[in-house]
Amino acid sequence: MEPNPEPQEEVKTVEGPSEIPEGHSVKYYEWTDDMTQKCQDVIDEDENYHPEAGKLKKHAGMNWHIFYSNNKTNFFKNRHYLIKEFTEMKEKCDDQEIVRLLDAGCGVGNALFPLCKDLPNLHVDAFDFALKAVNLVKEHEKFEEERMKVEQCDLVRDDIPFEAGTHDFAILIFVLSAIFPEHYKDVIQKVYDQLNQGGILYFRDYGKYDMAQMRFAKKKTSKVLDNFYVRGDKTLAYYFTIEEVDELMTSVGFKKLSLDYHYKEFENRKKGLKMHRVWIQAKYIKE
Ligand SMILES: C[S@@+](CC[C@H](N)C(=O)[O-])C[C@H]1O[C@@H](n2cnc3c(N)ncnc32)[C@H](O)[C@@H]1O
Repeated sequence: MEPNPEPQEEVKTVEGPSEIPEGHSVKYYEWTDDMTQKCQDVIDEDENYHPEAGKLKKHAGMNWHIFYSNNKTNFFKNRHYLIKEFTEMKEKCDDQEIVRLLDAGCGVGNALFPLCKDLPNLHVDAFDFALKAVNLVKEHEKFEEERMKVEQCDLVRDDIPFEAGTHDFAILIFVLSAIFPEHYKDVIQKVYDQLNQGGILYFRDYGKYDMAQMRFAKKKTSKVLDNFYVRGDKTLAYYFTIEEVDELMTSVGFKKLSLDYHYKEFENRKKGLKMHRVWIQAKYIKE
């Protein structure tokens, strides 16, 4: 689950069917050209750029550390949907004695703990640059030293502290969007290098025109770069198009297996609230 720019209420709306907040229904909705035009007009009207981009870049790790110091493990929900969507991982676990997963930007382990519970032969190498997150993973009651390693590492500034070419899978879930776009290619290259031949990357992140982006655009005080905004807690969020994701992934040598927008509408009928979320979900293989 991703951090929420504003009201707590919407934090609880951000993930898939297994995590529908009480009182909300969820369904896929159809995106139209008319919606693109309307959203783009709103985005274009926001001409202000945040004055402190340099500071936000420099203190990105600290800001996430503070985020986890405040929110502990309570903010994101466990990503139970992964095992259903990342079918290749389950199949490999049925076939191979030990399957190795890289969890890049693992946060407090909302992906790794459910995966390890369902897949007993999965071994995870995880890292995050927020020290508090790393410590919360290590202190977690489900943490198993024999098959889970977690390190502090900055995907932008550091080398990944695990052996290159040794992972069957990698996950990058709502992490790339938190990074300044100028680093995307290097970051994806580092993840690519960690995979073995045939290794698969599962990517999930924000899509352009997501409800949160539209709220930032209307506010006109949050834009750091085009399609890149700062939240109230100083964490950052980029909103991708599938074309950008594809260009990035293929530029380091990945081959596309799947790449789609997910348009989900959350509705609370009682409160008359509708929320339109846009995510991107993709799988890429290192051939
Ligand atoms: C929205 S959270 C998602 C956490 C986790 N992937 C999940 O599925 O719950 C984004 C995470 O990316 C981490 N992150 C952001 N930039 C990073 C960087 N340069 N290096 C390592 N981790 C980073 C943050 O600390 C945060 O834990």
